Formats: sequence, structure tokens, C-alpha cells
Amino acid sequence: MDSRPIGIFDSGLGGLSAVKAVLELLPNENIVYFGDTARVPYGSRSNETIEKFAKEDIAFLQQFDCKLIMAACGTVSSVAKKATSEIKEPFIGVVKPASNAAAKATRNGVIGVMGTSATINSGSYSNEIAKINPQAKVVGVSCPLLVTLVENNWIDEDNYIAREIIKRYITPLMEQGADTIILGCTHFPHLAPIIQSVAGDDVVLIDTGLEAAREAQRVLRAQDMESPAENSGEAHYYVSDKTQNFSAVAQTLLGRDISGEITFMNVKDRL
Ligand code: DGL
Repeated sequence: MDSRPIGIFDSGLGGLSAVKAVLELLPNENIVYFGDTARVPYGSRSNETIEKFAKEDIAFLQQFDCKLIMAACGTVSSVAKKATSEIKEPFIGVVKPASNAAAKATRNGVIGVMGTSATINSGSYSNEIAKINPQAKVVGVSCPLLVTLVENNWIDEDNYIAREIIKRYITPLMEQGADTIILGCTHFPHLAPIIQSVAGDDVVLIDTGLEAAREAQRVLRAQDMESPAENSGEAHYYVSDKTQNFSAVAQTLLGRDISGEITFMNVKDRL
């Protein structure tokens, strides 16, 4: 048993999809979340910058004596190999768990991946899926505009603009026959209802945040590191900038008001 917190970070608020899943699957766990809202998006930056940001985010979370660290960010999980391999705590990224789930889910062996430009350019999902099923065909598409839609709360199903952008992005995946799509950026599960309705009901969507949360559950169980059952599970949220509508966005993404629980960290003071 171990009641130390799970540290979860993302470039912004998209990683709350992983937090939501952890809260549901592991209600006794304490969570420290860091969203780098001052520097989102990461996905259009160079690999060097993503490594640097990831290293700082990890160092920030390590101050809380976390028992496990999760990069709830497809971009960091795909690109920041050095920063994440140096983590001394057990570490979970989103690429492996989501690739495993997709390889299991596909019926025709064609898997689509939606991600940031950095994620798609890294080839992380195709490399991981090739290890599990070398016959699978992986088709990737960079969807940079979707991060902005989520960070601005444009995620309602009736949002015509969001729907049109998604249609434009996923048409090539559908044309190549993808029967499974990895929402390879933790912002994208928040757009899942629109993506599902554009892709059609037969297409299986893989939620990276949920798969990472399942992996965390597996790791904690295997290492006997779960929080005691009597622990009520507290979450603390830190952001590097109070962007104008961040509490409204967080409320939509998590389904409850956390404005009183969010602490602003000045980027310069946070380490
Ligand atoms: N949520 C992040 C990801 O999973 C990225 C969005 C970004 O910062 O570009 O890739």
C-alpha cells in the first residue's frame, strides 16, 4: 500500500481526460495534476523544446514525492524520450497502452492515428504497433487545430466548425479503411462524440487517457502500490497560466467545478 500521489502532466488541459479516467478507475488515489497552460501547444514545437518542457514538468511533479508519473500527453510520450527515460519513479506514457488497445480492437488491421504534428512525425504509434502486429497498417494524420478547439471549449456536439475540421482531418483515414482510430493526443477524447459521429458507429475510438489510466491501475496493483481503501482520494491541480476560460474548460472536461482547487504556478517560480 502506498498513499503517495500519482503525478499527471500535460501541455494544457487535455490531460484531464486521463485524470477523469483515473478518478473513475482509482477513486482512492491522490492526484497532482500539472497543465502547462502558459506554453500549450507543445505539438508544433521542436523536439529539443518538447524535451526541455517535459523535463521541467517532471521536475515540478517530483517535488510532490509521487509514486508514479504519467505523461498524459501524446506529444511528450512520443518525443521526450530522454526526459521520460530518466524518471526514477514508475512512468507511464500514453503511446504503449493506446497502441496495445488499438492492436486488440482492430478487425481489419487498419489503424488510424490522430495526433499533433510532433506525434505524427515521430512515428511513435506506428513503431509501437509494429512491435505488436507487424502486419497492421497504421495511417497517421496531424490535427493541430483540435487542441485549440479543446482549450477553447469548442467541444459541443452541435459545433459546426469543430465537425467540419474533424471531417477534413479524418476523411483520409476513413478512405484508407481504418476501423480503429487512436485519439493520439489527450485533448482529442474530449471531442470523441463528434469524431465518432463523423467516423461512424463501426469505428472503434481509442481514448489515450483511459488506456493510460488502465495501465496505471495495472502497474499499481502489480507492485502493491495502490492507496489504502479508506483513502478518499484528493486531487490538486496546478497550471502555469490562468488562461481566460481555463476554469470553464476544466469544468466541461471533468464534469465538475474545480476552480477552487486550481493553483496558479508562475513558470519562473515553479522549480
Ligand atoms: N495534449 C497534448 C498531446 O497529447 C498536446 C497538445 C499540444 O500541446 O500540442 O499531444
